[in-house]
Amino acid sequence: MTVVLRLDPEDPDVDDIEQAATVIQQGGLVAFPTETVYGLGADAMNEAAVQKIFEAKGRPADNPVIVHISNIDMLERVATGVSRTAKMLAERFWPGPLTLVLKRNTNVAPSISAGLSTIAVRMPRGRIALDLITRAGTPVAAPSANISGRPSPTTASHVATDLEGRIDMILDGGATNIGIESTVLDVTVDPPLILRPGWVTKEMLTEAIGKIGAAASEEELKHSPGTRHRHYSPRARVVLIEHASPMQIARVIRQHLESGEVGFIGHSKIDSSEEGLILFPLRQDAAEYAKSLYSALRELDAREVSTILVEGIAEIGEGAAVMDRLRRAASEVISE
Ligand code: TXA
Ligand code: MG
Repeated sequence: MTVVLRLDPEDPDVDDIEQAATVIQQGGLVAFPTETVYGLGADAMNEAAVQKIFEAKGRPADNPVIVHISNIDMLERVATGVSRTAKMLAERFWPGPLTLVLKRNTNVAPSISAGLSTIAVRMPRGRIALDLITRAGTPVAAPSANISGRPSPTTASHVATDLEGRIDMILDGGATNIGIESTVLDVTVDPPLILRPGWVTKEMLTEAIGKIGAAASEEELKHSPGTRHRHYSPRARVVLIEHASPMQIARVIRQHLESGEVGFIGHSKIDSSEEGLILFPLRQDAAEYAKSLYSALRELDAREVSTILVEGIAEIGEGAAVMDRLRRAASEVISE
């Protein structure tokens, strides 16, 4: 059975946190909100506990997970040889949506790193996450709290849909602020390499430490096994529409309506009178897209549409992270 506790994200109840921390200490699984998405947490120093994460999610064993810490002193329990650059980044962006890939401390449960000599670490923002880790007194391994391959959860009910009955506890702190996963930056190479774009943008990283690389080749992406797998996908077929006028979009919608119900997520004004069409209008703004995208995908899935059409946004600043997720979710890209 999965226990669900509702917590105030600004001021979580101490007894509730204590209860969740005890589950972690005893080798159980607790889903909790971070500023990005909900994570599925286990004691990072307990191999059996970490293996439960992989089982609950159906996650491939070759996809390593992120370890979460709540203060900078915890860093050396999970990583070694932390460079000056890494320290600067931690100081500047933690707590926050930046994950650093560092050399792994061999005390950490081995399956976290999926056989790599590195470990991904971040200090999340938000009282529930930080209080939980501090109370548990141990670094907490936590991938996104979804069934592997499905969109990351941005609410506790998304977590329950995927993992009810498979995990011990869910801490419900309401909808997450950002809505897409953290930036993953490999700082074991020079220049550091972005393995997954996120809310901490390339521009922000460049301003902080100078030159940054972005993984372009398959070879480089081997450093981030997760980016190889198809990701963030609902069950329905997702089609990404880039650079199209409202008229062109309306035509694409009509085409797809011939084979079943259609959901449209986008910023162009679309006539809503077509039968079988469900609209999710968003402002043309990366923050709004990030916040709403996964829940829109999940809701359209629940309504069993056959096609989800998503309109892209400009790939600048935070828009790059949004477009990355859209491309991974899509099985087809239309560019008019
Ligand atoms: O915002 C987030 O990052 C959320 C919250 C819960 O913190 N977590 C999250 O975890 O998105 P997950 O497991 O769904 O994604 C972790 C990503 C994967 O792409 C994985 O391959 C990569 O980080 N990763 C983990 N450890 C790595 C390592 N040692 N080297 C390279 N990439 C790594
Ligand atoms: Mg994930």
